[in-house]
Amino acid sequence: MPHRTELDLPFIREQYPKNHWDWAFFENAGGAFVPHSVIHRITSYMTETQVQPGYPYPESADAAERMNLGHRLMTEFVGADIDEITISASTSFNVYVLAQALRHLWKKDDEIIVATLNHEANSGPWRRLQEFGLKIIEWPIESDTAELNLDTLDKLLNEKTQLVAFPHVSNVAGNVNDVPAITKLAHSVDALVCVDGVAYAPHRALSVKEWDVDFYLFNFYKVFGPHMGCLYGKREILQKAKGQYHYFFEEDDLLHKMNPAGPNHESIASLAGIADYFDAIYAHHFDKNEPSFFARSQDLYAKFAENEQVLSKKFLDFITSLDDIRLIGSHESDKDIRVPTFSFVSKKISSEEIARAVAEDKVAISSGHFYAKRLVESLGIEDTKDGLVRCSMAHYNTIDEVDRLIRSLDRVLR
Ligand SMILES: Cc1ncc(COP(=O)(O)O)c(C=O)c1O
Repeated sequence: MPHRTELDLPFIREQYPKNHWDWAFFENAGGAFVPHSVIHRITSYMTETQVQPGYPYPESADAAERMNLGHRLMTEFVGADIDEITISASTSFNVYVLAQALRHLWKKDDEIIVATLNHEANSGPWRRLQEFGLKIIEWPIESDTAELNLDTLDKLLNEKTQLVAFPHVSNVAGNVNDVPAITKLAHSVDALVCVDGVAYAPHRALSVKEWDVDFYLFNFYKVFGPHMGCLYGKREILQKAKGQYHYFFEEDDLLHKMNPAGPNHESIASLAGIADYFDAIYAHHFDKNEPSFFARSQDLYAKFAENEQVLSKKFLDFITSLDDIRLIGSHESDKDIRVPTFSFVSKKISSEEIARAVAEDKVAISSGHFYAKRLVESLGIEDTKDGLVRCSMAHYNTIDEVDRLIRSLDRVLR
């Protein structure tokens, strides 16, 4: 098959239940659609192997095999080793558990730097450690472009800093923050980093070893899979963390110690369906036979990014041409600068009203603070419940859908 230069969107959209495409869907930052391959894996697990895994009878062995496959493929997706990955209930849950697991390493008056740009998931659990005498230092944002300023971080870091918690991409602003540079800076004072990759992972490929991060989190329901969260932790730091599961799991059992929820069997098995989906698109677009799922994901995401940049440009040209609109995040469509998650406020119409009016044209967008309430407050948006309007795209969105969004917003905003 010839190498295709553009994503074959009709092919990609065939991988999903048809009914999704009736609406122009721009709430992907809330949760992405799930392809047939994932639905098939979860259904077949529950139909064919719904027993406890790991015992010596065929159904049980099959169940374990399916779960192990899901876990292994997602480990490859992240670019980590298998025992560095915990697959559990959600990102909020994983950060909470992580904070509890690390706190014995720190003493009273030690400091944790928390970016105001965070979703509450990577903020609240660290702030709770104030109960144990730790100090929280805010890393503020300084303008509507919502960039993380490294000079500001540099001034906040000192020998008491134990950890810096920040997002790879904010679920409101959409900018891609410089994870390797921030990590290097934090490491210069021996602080750890905990990076929230939830709003990044649906758009750009992961490579945790290359970035040298200590902890990296994302969830699968924004990456075309089930409602589960993934925690990557560097092995040597996970070894020092205090186990949070049952007492009989040893401290060197990294696969279990960070998941007091226990595994959700059918969901873990269904993660192999994300790989099935990516591999179907890969085989459709590339001639080469790349054996590693990590490498295939890198190639594929580069293609996703190209489509997203086209969608971003179209939307940004429109939204920045309007008076009375305050856009948060970068105005640049460059795929290395931002992902296609756009939030704005109108000086005239409430955010909730805009989202509701656009829905009349079968265009799905959202409004609110998106659990980044501290960020919305720091932007000076007083009614945090009404918050901002968010339009968020994924690789499967088409330029025609962006046109529909623009026509609808144009009707409502002008
Ligand atoms: C950037 C970001 N971080 C964290 C979360 C929380 O994820 P979870 O639902 O897995 O706890 C979200 C959810 O919207 C998010 O957008």
